[in-house]
Amino acid sequence: MQKLYEGKAKAVYTTSEEGVLVQRFKDSATAFNAEKKAEFGGKGELNNRIAGIVFRYLADRGIPSHYIETPNTRDMRIRAVEIIQIEVVARNIVAGSLSKRTGLDEGVRLSAPIVEFYYKDDDLGDPMITDDHIRILNLATEDELATLRRMALEINEHLIELWKKCGLDLVDFKLEFGRVDGKILLADEISPDTQRLWDADGNRMDKDVFRRDLADLVETYSRVHAQLIAAYPEYDFGTLPEAPAER
Ligand code: TMP
Repeated sequence: MQKLYEGKAKAVYTTSEEGVLVQRFKDSATAFNAEKKAEFGGKGELNNRIAGIVFRYLADRGIPSHYIETPNTRDMRIRAVEIIQIEVVARNIVAGSLSKRTGLDEGVRLSAPIVEFYYKDDDLGDPMITDDHIRILNLATEDELATLRRMALEINEHLIELWKKCGLDLVDFKLEFGRVDGKILLADEISPDTQRLWDADGNRMDKDVFRRDLADLVETYSRVHAQLIAAYPEYDFGTLPEAPAER
């Protein structure tokens, strides 16, 4: 297999099958556009399992994604898509950059969810962009943008329910989408790297524990995974084969 791409938390490989790729979840975590970086043994497997459960949960509720299957501890087989270079963030509660940008206090619940768009460009530091910026940069058509917004809000409703049953509050999350055969599919991953989840005591159960040095990342993600399979045992992968060391 050939490595097509390597990012901060995943690498993507070709397979012998036309239109099928493998994304491998790495043990590294980065924050602040990779200014902060560390390795966490077990993180890759936890995010692979969590993302696999979330994609299957969403598929059962009519949300199409690039997910095919989870063949082993670290890898996810996915459909090859053309990634849309927009990070779509949806928020229910004020946190992170929304608090910094607006001065609203962290923890304030929004009266309705909001959607924001960011330009997926590491060199620029993923800046927030407007619909007009998206148009002049040709990142998506107006129809596609409307679809991204609609899908993000729909996914938000499903994820709120999913995490509620696990005793967690969905604060915000980031999605990526891809195009294939004229369709838009949810892509990338949904994991504690890409969402903010707060428990009933206000503990951060996501990558903020690393960004802000609040708690042990692997312990935190393990608890999220344990809560997920306790609430949804039907989505548990159980024992998975060990991932091959090299792809
Ligand atoms: P923000 O408050 O830092 O803008 O983050 C909003 C959400 O997006 C939060 O759940 C974390 C997620 N996120 C990513 O997945 N990748 C990123 O590069 C950033 C900045 C945020």
